[in-house]
Order: sequence, then structure tokens, then C-alpha cells
Amino acid sequence: MQIIEIMEKTFIAESGDVALYLAMSKKAADEGDQDTARYLYDVAMDEAHHAADFAILLGKVKDTRSNVNLMLKDEIRSEKERSQAATMARAQGNEEAYQYFERSMHDERRHKAGLKVILSKLQEKD
Ligand SMILES: [Fe+2]
Ligand SMILES: [Fe+2]
Repeated sequence: MQIIEIMEKTFIAESGDVALYLAMSKKAADEGDQDTARYLYDVAMDEAHHAADFAILLGKVKDTRSNVNLMLKDEIRSEKERSQAATMARAQGNEEAYQYFERSMHDERRHKAGLKVILSKLQEKD
């Protein structure tokens, strides 16, 4: 296996670990164990930094305008996909999944709006 493939797998593994540690941190907090929640949260952020380093090494990060443009497209797609999934979850009677997809959709919409503001500010500088 080429090192570049290992780096790509590492990026994916580290990214997955961020989500798992964060979810486990939320669970510990729900159980009232704030110290463990804090620790798991800190580990999640370490994993996020590892993932970010590999993203950079793999050339996934360009100049800021290109990055923002790329992620704007991603947020537009994400918002649409979460919305469709929310509708599907509700139709299938999964209220909990519906709630999560809905919340996620609103966050993606907010991310999209924020990225648009950044892009227009970058264009003003031209
Ligand atoms: Fe890691
Ligand atoms: Fe997002």
C-alpha cells in the first residue's frame, strides 16, 4: 500500500474518531459525568487536529476563496440532502431521526449563509 493511501485512510479514520469521541462526550455529559465529558471532548479536538493535518498533507486545502467556494457547494448539497432525509424519516415514522436531520439541515443552512457572507467580503476586497 502506498503511503498516500495510508494517509487517506488515516484522514477518514481520524475524522470518524472526532464524531465518535464527541458523541461519547455528549453521552457522558448526559450521564452527569462532566470530567469524562470534558476529557472526551478534548480528545475529539485532538483527533480533529490530526484529521486536519492529514487534509493539508493530502492537498485538500487550497487558498481561502477556493476553500470557501468548495464548502459552500458542499453545504448547499448537505442542506438539500438533510431536508430530503428528514422528509423520509418522518414518512417512515422515525421521529428521532427526523429531529436530527431537521436540526442538521438548519445548521447547514446557517453554514451556507455564513460562507456566502465571507465570499461577498472577499469579493469586495478585489
Ligand atoms: Fe488521532
Ligand atoms: Fe455544514
